[in-house]
Amino acid sequence: MDPILEVAELKTWFFAKDSTVKAVDGVSFSIMQGETFGLVGESGCGKSATCRSILRLVHEPGRIVSGSITYKGQDLVKLSEEGMRKIRGKEIGMIFQEPMTALNPVLKIKEQIFESFEGMRMSTAQKYERAIELLRIIGIPTPEVRIEEYAHQFSGGMRQRAMIAIALAAQPKLLLADEPTTALDVTIQDQIIKLINSLKTRLGMSVLLVTHDLGVVSQMCDRVAVMYAGFIMELADTITLFSEPRHPYTYGLISSLPSGKERGARLEPIQGAPPDLGSLGPGCPFAPRCRFVGELCTRTMPEMREVSPGHMSRCHYIEKMAGIKGLIEPEGRAS
Ligand SMILES: Nc1ncnc2c1ncn2[C@@H]1O[C@H](COP(=O)(O)OP(=O)(O)O)[C@@H](O)[C@H]1O
Ligand code: SF4
Ligand SMILES: [Mg+2]
Repeated sequence: MDPILEVAELKTWFFAKDSTVKAVDGVSFSIMQGETFGLVGESGCGKSATCRSILRLVHEPGRIVSGSITYKGQDLVKLSEEGMRKIRGKEIGMIFQEPMTALNPVLKIKEQIFESFEGMRMSTAQKYERAIELLRIIGIPTPEVRIEEYAHQFSGGMRQRAMIAIALAAQPKLLLADEPTTALDVTIQDQIIKLINSLKTRLGMSVLLVTHDLGVVSQMCDRVAVMYAGFIMELADTITLFSEPRHPYTYGLISSLPSGKERGARLEPIQGAPPDLGSLGPGCPFAPRCRFVGELCTRTMPEMREVSPGHMSRCHYIEKMAGIKGLIEPEGRAS
């Protein structure tokens, strides 16, 4: 199967006054047609910057420094701004972490959803019906009333939902979902996951799912990339990643999850905090927190290496992890 999107050696940096924050520093991955690809990692590792780069929505003081982003044969890094406007929404949709950046303050929610339907053969009555249905699924009470309102009349959680409805109404070929369910309660989270999955099945939509929640990854993703400090540290299919992690950081993330069997067991968070991306040394950025750290680690950055076909890890001492099992089995994936 062909990839719908190929990101190669992407670098997106922010140029602050006295340092350069290398938010994305040579990231490569591809997303297959119909695939849900997960991007996980602690806050500040460059997940949102990666998503925004794909839609070329990185603004000053940041910019895409190098790399390519190939969507249906064309490099989005080189595409004109007018070309990008045709891609955003219909071809590649995005659910943003901050809903206000995606909502138009001068248009009613109805008008914004209707805009998403542009180009689809639907009567006004059908558009209205579908819009109400979407708002209802997404958990907006009295949608007939709320649809006539403006974004500023919505609470934070409601805005998040309205933005998701607008993004999904356009039926994009590729959906970039940046922490789509983080601020929402569990019932609504489940509804949104179901809605995304049904669009995947019905329309063959592909999804880039950004999250720091490994539970959501195990429910939704076919493959996953684990990001740390602007780099992809490990990439594998979801089952392999959970059952045989081959990077100390992934292992740390999985170990900090409560396993299904031991509910209430104490979490073991990874010691320490992610580094400042403006002042990274020459070695592995995970070294100060790594329990497998060795002599090479503080001196040189490890290259990405193949563990097995389709399974990559960026660590000098992959072999130290041989035989280590993930602590949990992935949950049954929703189809
Ligand atoms: N507009 C900006 N100006 C300066 N630094 C930024 C900006 N946006 C993001 N960054 C920095 O880029 C890094 C990655 O941020 P982000 O992609 O938002 O992380 P994540 O989504 O994984 O939490 C962080 O160190 C953040 O401080
Ligand atoms: S390269 Fe070294 S510090 Fe980095 S993850 Fe591997 S063992 Fe840990
Ligand atoms: Mg983010």
